[in-house]
Amino acid sequence: MTPEEASAQRPADPGALAGRFEEEAAAVGDRGGWDELRIRWMGRKQGIVRGLLANMKDVPPQERRDYGQAVNRLKTAVEEGLERLEGELEERERAVAQRSAAVDVTLPGRRPAVGAVHPTNLVIRDMAQIFAELGFSVAEGPEVESDYHNFTALNMPPDHPARDTQDTFFLDPGRVLRTHTSPVQIRTMEARRPPIKIICPGRVYRNDNDLRHSPMFHQVEGLAVAEGITFADLKGTLEAFLKRLFHPDTGVRLRPSYFPFTEPSAEVDVTCPFCDGAGCATCSGSGWLEILGAGMVNPRVLEMCDIDPRRYSGFAFGMGVDRVAMSRYGVPNIRMLFDNDERLLRQI
Ligand code: DAH
Repeated sequence: MTPEEASAQRPADPGALAGRFEEEAAAVGDRGGWDELRIRWMGRKQGIVRGLLANMKDVPPQERRDYGQAVNRLKTAVEEGLERLEGELEERERAVAQRSAAVDVTLPGRRPAVGAVHPTNLVIRDMAQIFAELGFSVAEGPEVESDYHNFTALNMPPDHPARDTQDTFFLDPGRVLRTHTSPVQIRTMEARRPPIKIICPGRVYRNDNDLRHSPMFHQVEGLAVAEGITFADLKGTLEAFLKRLFHPDTGVRLRPSYFPFTEPSAEVDVTCPFCDGAGCATCSGSGWLEILGAGMVNPRVLEMCDIDPRRYSGFAFGMGVDRVAMSRYGVPNIRMLFDNDERLLRQI
């Protein structure tokens, strides 16, 4: 037997193996690795420790005692090492599970979708604010209106041709969706005595639908009734209002017109806010934009509301709000105002 052959026959040194076990144990990161380590060292059939015990028979009798003690020390070290490692792995798993279940307070919060004031309402607010400073309060009336308040009391008796121009939505006999906010004038004068200074913002309805018309749109109505009110009061009020609403340099122009409920009547234009009156596509090159209808309250309307026209006089006006919102905020199509697409509303 050569020395080499002899050393190959010598059983492995159990004392040196403890260090190898520690190295292997340090590299284990999960349960699977731990199981492999356990089977490799402590497996019943081919485990290293079992193999060392089986080698006992090849150890010279005088060394067996030391050898056996060394194997036992190794076995105890491996068992303790496996147990400690198992504990560490369990601890690590528990920490990972806890972390993934916890609320992460550093995440950004989810914001609730908060609405914004609708562009039409922004304009209505501005208008109401300006008129409040001029001494007008806000009145309201129903959108389902009687034929009497929407037409008859405004000097449009049943066969009056002006009724045809309003594209009315008729409901039950005698009821309509109000075609304008002017019936609120009537309701106010029925309920109160002069002096009266009110505006009425609200929805109105007409059977009309294209890029510039929507079947539902908004108007602001105005009414002032007292002793001694003249056309100059109307003109001064509207000029003050329109210059506040648009720009101090805005030009205001009154053209003669006709409404059954006012006499005389006027249509009121402002210099186009887009081209300052130079002429552009929005004002069709004229430099002027028609903004409202107005006039002195027709004495017959006052009479129908039981207000004596020999003592009292008044002026009234009415205007569309949505067009002002469209031009102010650059909305090209009136229906975009009522789609309520948040992307549009959030831009304003
Ligand atoms: N009611 C009219 C319309 O809807 C607007 C209007 C014109 C109202 C003249 C008025 C007024 O109060 O005096 O077309």
